[in-house]
Amino acid sequence: MDNLPELSLYVHLPWCDKKCPYCDFNVTTDSLNDSVKELFSALKNDLNESELLINQRAFKSIYFGGGTPSKVATTFIKDFLNFLHSKFKVVLNCEVSFEANPIDLTSDYIAELKDSGINRVSVGIQSFDNQYLDSLGRNHNSSDSLKALELLSESELIGTIDLIYGGPNSNSLTLKNDLEIFLDAGINHLSLYQLNIEPNTIFYKKRPLLPDENEIEKAEIISSDLLVKNNFNQYEISSWSKKNSKSVHNQNYWKYGDYLGIGPGASSKIYKDNFHYRFRKRNSVKSYINDTKPIHMEKLEGKEFDFDLAINILRNKSGIDDKNLASNQIKLSERFIEKYKIGVDMGYFQKGRLGTTEKGFKFLDDAVSLFS
Ligand SMILES: C[S@@+](CC[C@H](N)C(=O)[O-])C[C@H]1O[C@@H](n2cnc3c(N)ncnc32)[C@H](O)[C@@H]1O
Ligand code: SF4
Repeated sequence: MDNLPELSLYVHLPWCDKKCPYCDFNVTTDSLNDSVKELFSALKNDLNESELLINQRAFKSIYFGGGTPSKVATTFIKDFLNFLHSKFKVVLNCEVSFEANPIDLTSDYIAELKDSGINRVSVGIQSFDNQYLDSLGRNHNSSDSLKALELLSESELIGTIDLIYGGPNSNSLTLKNDLEIFLDAGINHLSLYQLNIEPNTIFYKKRPLLPDENEIEKAEIISSDLLVKNNFNQYEISSWSKKNSKSVHNQNYWKYGDYLGIGPGASSKIYKDNFHYRFRKRNSVKSYINDTKPIHMEKLEGKEFDFDLAINILRNKSGIDDKNLASNQIKLSERFIEKYKIGVDMGYFQKGRLGTTEKGFKFLDDAVSLFS
């Protein structure tokens, strides 16, 4: 047991008011009424059945993601966290994060979240520009977001927000304005995503007009300058934080720690019997409630393991140290090391430490493709 990687818990709560045109996450717009009770009972059942995979480890972080977790009444969250604490180990002062949409964050809801054991709230702001929010098909506006952030700062919960740049009806100035508002709000963590046009989305079928590459690059330069000037550090491709405010949960993903995902469509990475495995749960709420067992258990070995490892650990801006490699059971094959050396010669990777150079971080897809 001593030699197992650290373990996080991800809980997927799939309900949304409407499906955003760019989103390919596993969500449902069905009403919660019929299924929420049954889903939470399935989540507990899933945890019980995962006892062997958990293998007596203490959870080092817990993350409620979606979908829109803030559509769920906090009584379910409180009851679930009580159950978790009573049956499983959880580290002291565990980071417990919760994704919320701005319109759901009333002062009562925030107080109840706090009382349930949530200590970190991730608000899906995306932008403070109303025209851009419309183009992204969001159901909130900038004043909803400002109100939510004000309530959050009064609550003393840890806050983080999500912003998306590079979408329709936006440009580098949109991002600059968004970041200025974010910086004024006094929040110490930001997830900053470039809009990805994913298959199986409305934007994929009917591609909107997007800003060109030059404009995207300009947005990235402006935002990086602004964030650095305000003492934010980029610790992962999409994650920026002030000192001591990195997300424990995010870091565990990119350091190749283990995570157990429960809920419809949730994915997991677990080390057992000397191998790392990835697996998922059934997608629809109903099928997950009927059967919470893992599907598609994939043993990671050979080239697939090298690639999986590379796309995860190289996202960490500062790379990963030997202690971390050992604690998370990362054994590098000769083949991996050979490819890494090629990347060092190309200027993509650092020499004495596993991680990218500035160039490798900038051209991460090219750098990682060496392992494919
Ligand atoms: C799946 S959502 C869940 C949180 C919440 N429902 C929301 O939308 O605000 C998590 C985050 O993923 C990001 N996201 C989702 N789809 C994306 C896409 N196609 N490109 C870039 N970011 C995306 C958004 O910033 C969003 O806040
Ligand atoms: S982006 Fe968020 S709110 Fe929109 S459909 Fe996806 S999970 Fe739901």
